[in-house]
Amino acid sequence: MSEEKKPKDITELPGVGPTTAQKLISSGYTSIEAIAVATPHELSQATGIPLPTAQKIIQAARDALDIRFKTALDLKKERLTVRKITTGSKNLDQLLGGGVETRTVTEFFGEFGSGKTQICHQLSVNVQLPEEQGGLNAKAVYIDTEGTFRWERIEQMARGVGLDPDQAMENIYWIRAINSHHQMAIVDQLFDMIKRENIRLVVVDSVTSHFRAEFPGRENLAMRQQLLNKHLHQLSRLSEIYNVAVVITNQVMARPDVFYGDPTQAVGGHVLYHAPGVRVQLKKSRGNKRIARIVDAPHLPEGETVFVITEWGIRDPE
Ligand code: GTP
Ligand code: MG
Repeated sequence: MSEEKKPKDITELPGVGPTTAQKLISSGYTSIEAIAVATPHELSQATGIPLPTAQKIIQAARDALDIRFKTALDLKKERLTVRKITTGSKNLDQLLGGGVETRTVTEFFGEFGSGKTQICHQLSVNVQLPEEQGGLNAKAVYIDTEGTFRWERIEQMARGVGLDPDQAMENIYWIRAINSHHQMAIVDQLFDMIKRENIRLVVVDSVTSHFRAEFPGRENLAMRQQLLNKHLHQLSRLSEIYNVAVVITNQVMARPDVFYGDPTQAVGGHVLYHAPGVRVQLKKSRGNKRIARIVDAPHLPEGETVFVITEWGIRDPE
């Protein structure tokens, strides 16, 4: 299929007439991406479209997105387009293989106060820096599920790296996600927004809180995980299609016995367990010191490092 003939939105998908389009949109399937990652059953149930039609529409959406085999050389070329955003700490950058990567979902997980939100703020500022200073000369989207985003902190961190504070704040698009459904719908909309704006970082802080609150307990675990997986899949597609860095956070309770053992056993677990991406475990240490450790990333060296949270943001210890 040639570039110009590719459907740009769902109304242009083969097999989707106005009535079907209306059903899809009113059920929340507003983008080709959302349809491409749906299962036929799910789509059919949500929209009332017959199963065979749902299958055809999903296939059409996948074709439109070029979900197909790639050669190893394609993979190499994609890899060469990966860019990195500095965290503000050389130690942490080194641990991450140079910084937080585009085309990747990076999960920071750890106990309360371990620095997850601070890192998200810092990256939203740093992505704006010129490339020679570890940025991508670009803007950030900040999806805030807990209401912990603070523009005052952005102002401070911008000063800390020599950016104009007002300009830096203008380059961060903040949105409060009010529930898990809203959170997922926001990501759907991003597929359009990223095309129009120079966005290279998408933050979801935290990715799990709404899902945990809305689907509590063991009896809801399957449903929660299913929705969360879908959400993560969307984020992963977003990072690949637009070559942006996606950074998500996940609060897990501290279990000292687990930090040096198998961290996948941490209470709540890290959410990317079965998804591709980079997982970083954060832990509080003395004072403003924090310990970061990469969890099961075969392409990154084992080990852990120390960074600090200062008035100006994330830095290396003195
Ligand atoms: P939860 O969201 O509760 O799970 O925690 P978190 O991992 O997101 O923690 P967060 O990133 O909010 O880290 C909080 C810590 O950052 C605080 O305990 C402070 O040590 C530090 N911090 C936050 N704001 C400031 C600030 O303005 N100045 C300085 N110096 N430190 C700050
Ligand atoms: Mg936080």
